[in-house]
Amino acid sequence: MNVFGISKPITEIDAQALAVAVFKDDKADSGVLKNLDAAVGGMISDVMKSEEFAAKEGETVYFHVSGEKLKARRLLLIGCGERDAYKAAQITQMGGSAARVLRSKNAKTVAIVPRAGDDAARTAQNVIVGAIMGLFEPDKYRTKDKEERELKSVTVVVEGADKRALQRGADRGQIIGESINFTRDLANEPGGYMTPTIMADRAKTVAKEFGLEIDVLDQKQMEKLGMGALLGVARGSDEPPKLIVMKYQPSRFRRKGDLLALVGKGITFDSGGISLKPGENMELMKYDMSGAATVIGTMRAIAQLKPSIAVLGVAPCSENLPSGKATKPGDILKAMTGKTIEVINTDAEGRLVLADAIAYAKKLGATRIIDMATLTGAVSIALGDVNTAILGTDQNLIDGVIDAGKGVGEKFWQLPLDDDYTKQIKSDIADIKNVGGKKAGTITAAAFLKEFAEETPWAHLDIAGTAWGDPATPYRSKGPTGVAVRTLIEFIERAAR
Ligand code: BES
Ligand code: ZN
Ligand code: ZN
Repeated sequence: MNVFGISKPITEIDAQALAVAVFKDDKADSGVLKNLDAAVGGMISDVMKSEEFAAKEGETVYFHVSGEKLKARRLLLIGCGERDAYKAAQITQMGGSAARVLRSKNAKTVAIVPRAGDDAARTAQNVIVGAIMGLFEPDKYRTKDKEERELKSVTVVVEGADKRALQRGADRGQIIGESINFTRDLANEPGGYMTPTIMADRAKTVAKEFGLEIDVLDQKQMEKLGMGALLGVARGSDEPPKLIVMKYQPSRFRRKGDLLALVGKGITFDSGGISLKPGENMELMKYDMSGAATVIGTMRAIAQLKPSIAVLGVAPCSENLPSGKATKPGDILKAMTGKTIEVINTDAEGRLVLADAIAYAKKLGATRIIDMATLTGAVSIALGDVNTAILGTDQNLIDGVIDAGKGVGEKFWQLPLDDDYTKQIKSDIADIKNVGGKKAGTITAAAFLKEFAEETPWAHLDIAGTAWGDPATPYRSKGPTGVAVRTLIEFIERAAR
């Protein structure tokens, strides 16, 4: 698909269909809508008068155009709610709704008028990210009733804006949107098609295509390094674990010596292990590698956007299955740092693989660490599917991620991580245990990780509630959301400025 940014008047846009943002306080007889209303013979005033369309968020209305007032032959109005609340998230969603609806009408060339002009490049970026995300379908394995329609081009129109800046924004949006969809595609793959070995192969393909360093550690190398926590999770599975390590090196450094590490949980299927999960909804546990997919997707974008800081991507990948060899509740594992862990529940496996991955990131010289993981069911109880939980040891880093999220329209909510919570993971027979009891499950999981991040500035994102979207919305299909990829890209680019 081609993306463009152009600054022509909307009456002259040469596309099959035009999508225009509309706000609650818009009137059909003034501003942009006035021209459009004339082009559709007054039908916009009609649908507004009849209250068929009130420009609420997500509402749409579709017209065929006749006459010569508009070059485009079809027009889609997209409700965007209150003008004051129209920020990155809403602009991105508008782009998603426009692309999805117009694809369903079999349009091939689409122009979108976002009507947010203060930073035209940024607006174009957000619209294109939204449009590309909106077009993602998780139906790859359908042989019938598959979404076969494809848009050929999406053009963002900001009248009077600098054309070069607009095009740059659109191009950046394409890189980011495609990288988010790459992450979603990985997360959507069933466990049988996305084993640790296949994950590593996909990461290698990305590294080769976009020019990243890559190293994949196998079981033997993990044994040598003493990664007993990661290996303890993998024991029950016939599929060998992989530790994927990707590195982006800028050609010019902003600050030499700085190395930001992204670490993502890559459990390609989480059955719970010997502490077997209930069968209901277990199929969803294919997305338990979303953290790792986020790392690979972010690295994929970073390799193309080329910020001036070095970024390390670490993804510990394993299955979590029961078998005669599997780790049992009560077993003790020795992590790479030498810490001993009593395994109370084999279903709390994410923190185990992350423990060794965080330690390894530090060994490779990470000066700041952000990890992301579908770590706890408890986070959905606390924050639902709206906010991603963020916790950590470095308030600067945490604030940086939250702010970057605001910039691109993703929400994060900080939970506390006082030392008091660490009491809950004290073990009677080892240094720590992998479960902290019923209370504050998301926090005690983070308290466990903190034991391995130690003094290195660290933030943790629990994406268990936000990495899967259900039900579908007008701007997004049901399934993997690719949450945090665009925030991390934004965070990295800000850190490089
Ligand atoms: N992968 C799960 C967490 C999860 C649950 C992600 C639901 C997405 C949706 C994780 O490995 C897990 O099972 N955590 C346990 C921890 C408990 C045993 C302390 C949980 O949250 O129940
Ligand atoms: Zn689990
Ligand atoms: Zn898990």
